[in-house]
Amino acid sequence: MTQSISPSILITGATGTIGSELATQLSAKGIPFRALVRSLENAEKLAQLDGAELVVGDLNDPESLVRALDGIERAFLLTNSSEQAETLQMNFVAVAQQAGVKHIVKLSQFAADLHSPVRFLRYHAAVEQKIRESGLSFTFLRPNLFMQALLGFRDPIVNQGKFFATAGDARISAVDIRDIAAVAVEALTMPGHVGKTYDLTGPEALTHQQMAAHFSDILGRPVLYIDVPPAHLRQALLSVGFPEWQADGLIEDYAHYARGEASAVSSAIQEVTGKPARDFKSFVRDYALVFS
Ligand SMILES: NC(=O)c1ccc[n+]([C@@H]2O[C@H](COP(=O)([O-])OP(=O)(O)OC[C@H]3O[C@@H](n4cnc5c(N)ncnc54)[C@H](OP(=O)(O)O)[C@@H]3O)[C@@H](O)[C@H]2O)c1
Repeated sequence: MTQSISPSILITGATGTIGSELATQLSAKGIPFRALVRSLENAEKLAQLDGAELVVGDLNDPESLVRALDGIERAFLLTNSSEQAETLQMNFVAVAQQAGVKHIVKLSQFAADLHSPVRFLRYHAAVEQKIRESGLSFTFLRPNLFMQALLGFRDPIVNQGKFFATAGDARISAVDIRDIAAVAVEALTMPGHVGKTYDLTGPEALTHQQMAAHFSDILGRPVLYIDVPPAHLRQALLSVGFPEWQADGLIEDYAHYARGEASAVSSAIQEVTGKPARDFKSFVRDYALVFS
């Protein structure tokens, strides 16, 4: 049996998709943590978790990071993929280094690469490089497409029985965010993850057509996947308020999926957590009410 390290943990991104699940799982295990939030108003649920201590700050404000990192040994680093993400995350690494943080668990992305045509994959690789050069110990989590990203297609699935993207017929080993958070818990609290880079995928690679078939089977009504030209998807993203940089990044992401570059299946979730990665059918079953 490995012994748990006594943690002194800071989570960034704790109000978001992965961070809130990570906070919930830490709390359920009785592991206290501090969460950096930009506003207490958006963090009411988080504040109610046992073991949660909230600190107000911003990755754009180094002074606030100094306060947030006081006494912290292990930090989870995540922001959304905005045009500022690279700078924000670099700020965090610089302050963490000065504050005496020992270990950073960085939420990166599957196929992160400094030379990728996908801007998200380039910035994640640049932050990984900065962390490697900082001398801090690290674990990099590189998840593939989140299954929960398909919640973004909820309205067309509910209202039209269709969802639209530009994945072609490429297979993608999408991953459930609950499994990503479970790996983050291990990397933050247990020994054995220093210097590791984990590709985090589901147990199978499915086309969007196969995902649609699972929606149809489990929801008991037809759901179709419609492949659209990238320009249509871009327009749709802009029309619902995505900044251009982000919309273009998502188009690049989908082109990377369509080239079949996100189809590899990794066993890291099983190896790190001791439990098999959730499959797509389980995801749809667990979220069936949301899609109904
Ligand atoms: N979606 C996918 O399929 C996918 C796949 C692989 C990897 N990823 C990676 O996953 C990451 C996004 O994870 P997610 O979906 O959990 O994110 P999310 O739900 O969009 O949440 C982003 C979090 O970052 C916080 N944040 C943003 N700017 C900040 C700042 N200046 N200072 C402090 N906190 C800040 C937000 O806080 P507020 O509540 O204050 O806004 C929020 O808690 C990205 O790096 C993306 O590349 C995504």
